[in-house]
Amino acid sequence: MSHPTTTNKEISTRRAKSFSSCYASAFTCYVDRAKGALIWDVEGNEYLDFAGGIGGMNVGHSHPKVVSALKDQAERFTHTCLMVAPYESAVQLAEKLCEAAPGDEPKAVAYVTSGAEAVENAVKIARVYTGRTGVVTMANGYHGRTMLTMAMTGRVMPFKAGFGPFAPEVYPIGSPYCYRCPMGKTYPDCEASCADLLSELFVKEVAAKSIACFVMEPVLGEGGFIVPPKEYTKKIKAICEEHGILFVSDEIQAGMARTGKVFAIEHFDVVPDLITTAKSLAAGMPISAVVGKRDIMDSVHPGGVGGTYSGNALGCAAGLAVLDILESEDLFSRADIIGEKVMTCFESLQKSFSIIGDVRGLSAMVAMELVHDKETKEPAPDLARAVVSYCFDKGLLLLATGTYGNVLRILSPLVITDEQLDRGLKIIEEAFTSVCK
Ligand SMILES: Cc1ncc(COP(=O)(O)O)c(C=O)c1O
Repeated sequence: MSHPTTTNKEISTRRAKSFSSCYASAFTCYVDRAKGALIWDVEGNEYLDFAGGIGGMNVGHSHPKVVSALKDQAERFTHTCLMVAPYESAVQLAEKLCEAAPGDEPKAVAYVTSGAEAVENAVKIARVYTGRTGVVTMANGYHGRTMLTMAMTGRVMPFKAGFGPFAPEVYPIGSPYCYRCPMGKTYPDCEASCADLLSELFVKEVAAKSIACFVMEPVLGEGGFIVPPKEYTKKIKAICEEHGILFVSDEIQAGMARTGKVFAIEHFDVVPDLITTAKSLAAGMPISAVVGKRDIMDSVHPGGVGGTYSGNALGCAAGLAVLDILESEDLFSRADIIGEKVMTCFESLQKSFSIIGDVRGLSAMVAMELVHDKETKEPAPDLARAVVSYCFDKGLLLLATGTYGNVLRILSPLVITDEQLDRGLKIIEEAFTSVCK
């Protein structure tokens, strides 16, 4: 390893002079290079990556197929603007996304750039198709940082404080958050009655015929890896159908094999009208898409959705490589194996450490929720931060999330080796021993 030409501390000092403090990073290491599930900083320190760029790196860092696709694309051209001079790779990727989307009806794709933009455009499309304005969301959901998606997001700090007024016509309902049931009930006796909150909304708040779409994450990401009961999603879809409301599955964090399927909604026996995808779609390249039923997608006038970088050429090249890798390396099965291993480890930790209130997940989307008291369920974001900090000191990048900031989640690349996964889980175990002593 050559001597570092700079240190993390030196860059941090320069950063403090050039970055606004409104922009924060979880860790103080500055990345030099990354491969698979490993990251090295400018000082040559190695980190195990359980954060995966917040779910953008399911195929791992610098996967040879992604690197080769990007190199090849960059040598041919980087940007002509898909809205100006289009290219075949965008069509190929759209064909594959249409094929992967659940349901037999014909599908179509529209590209944009970020996850938030995909959600915004799904709402725009739903509004045109239905001629209605209202949007129903989940109280613990996260959909982005734009004006509309902030309104659709159920967490004030750091996402919303001071940024209002928010876009109108957004109606959150209590989430299927079994550990903190909005109805005070217990699953399965509850029979997923929290889905009735949607019908209740139409009695108390807004007419069903004013609602264009219901937008839900099939597994809530930033909300703390909340997995809705299957009956919940089915009930919600039935209520939507009864009232002519479109069902939008926001797959930005849960999609692309994270839950063992291309789209997480496939676990719930529900065919969504529209899907939003980004993040791991293109191994962290900025490209996102709305995939949906053709008649709905085509209800918008030509040119109504787009943007300078929408469907950018590098993103399409990476996206095609990603879909190939998911299949050829069977990262779907790998996600299930990773999920099982993490779940077993977390459940065993829960037996030893009373601060672990809940362990939950679906396939490789596994999390644990920390509390000060198992009876009161008082959230323990301080303890989550302490575990994260211990792990960082031992070379593991782990992220806290959740409405209360007290959930530890695993978003490691799915190409992580068994040895790396075991090593990371061992560090988490040691962190609990240290934090709880
Ligand atoms: C479910 C979900 N929707 C939307 C977004 C917003 O995506 P982006 O940060 O690319 O705008 C995120 C990002 O974390 C997400 O997890």
